[in-house]
Amino acid sequence: MTDRPAGEHVLFEEVATAYDQLPVEFFGPVGERLVRLASVGPGERVLDVGCGRGAVTVPAARATGPTGRVLGIDLSPRMAGETGRLVGELGLGQARARVMDGQDPDLVPGTFDAVVGSMSVHMIDDLPAAYRAYRRLLRPGGRLGLAAPATDAAPEPDGLPRVFGLRTIAAMAERYATGSGVYPNSESFGGRDRLRAELSRSGFAGVRLTVEDAYIRAASPYDVVRWTWTHGMRRLWARVEPSRRADLEERIAAEIGERHIVEGRVVIPVPVLYATGTRPPH
Ligand SMILES: C[S@@+](CC[C@H](N)C(=O)[O-])C[C@H]1O[C@@H](n2cnc3c(N)ncnc32)[C@H](O)[C@@H]1O
Repeated sequence: MTDRPAGEHVLFEEVATAYDQLPVEFFGPVGERLVRLASVGPGERVLDVGCGRGAVTVPAARATGPTGRVLGIDLSPRMAGETGRLVGELGLGQARARVMDGQDPDLVPGTFDAVVGSMSVHMIDDLPAAYRAYRRLLRPGGRLGLAAPATDAAPEPDGLPRVFGLRTIAAMAERYATGSGVYPNSESFGGRDRLRAELSRSGFAGVRLTVEDAYIRAASPYDVVRWTWTHGMRRLWARVEPSRRADLEERIAAEIGERHIVEGRVVIPVPVLYATGTRPPH
């Protein structure tokens, strides 16, 4: 593992217990969509970079079936541990999880049919190094699939920025800039032009970038408020003066209540960027 300064994964080690465990749906459907876009199929060998608590590892293992092999890697030991426990509980013997740096995974070149990563790879410091590593790990003809927040999505009809589909969170993000290079104001992967160019330079062909809405779904606005403390947004909350947090939480809940209730449940559209490419067969 590379010796790197404390980064995003330290935050994820802190939130690992609650990450993706509240009754709020978001990361799971994005992971499932990514597995479909990367065309993961029976018998394939898949690497899931930044596996978190298995949002991609699990659907990938279901798609490969028992004859496949899925390896989830994460820099956070607790995340990797939870994913390992989950796949065991689900009887997905073809999947396992290890602690490993996704920037340059120490794995055998040419041994994967697909390398995928959802809401994770955009956090890596040296992205071109990571893309080159993924190309090396893929067999000729193998596929790359990445998903990340579409921070540069087409402007909303009202022209107001949103983060996680909400203006209140965008306003918070503007005021309490996190200092992170990736979240929440800067464009994932340095923007789509850069992503496309760097993937091509790293040897990927047929690079395709698409933005699709995913949906945050929950029973109540307060579930979503609690959920915002359990992932990357926790870093933003840490910057808000404690005396202001309750008011901001109320505002987030109020915006959801006013704008995003469908048949009594919370449904918030959030644009997600998906990138796919192929290691050329020759
Ligand atoms: C937002 S979570 C996404 C997890 C999962 N893929 C999902 O969609 O729910 C980001 C994950 O990436 C991991 N991560 C961040 N930097 C990493 C790196 N350089 N190598 C491996 N994992 C990393 C974090 O520890 C965290 O578990």
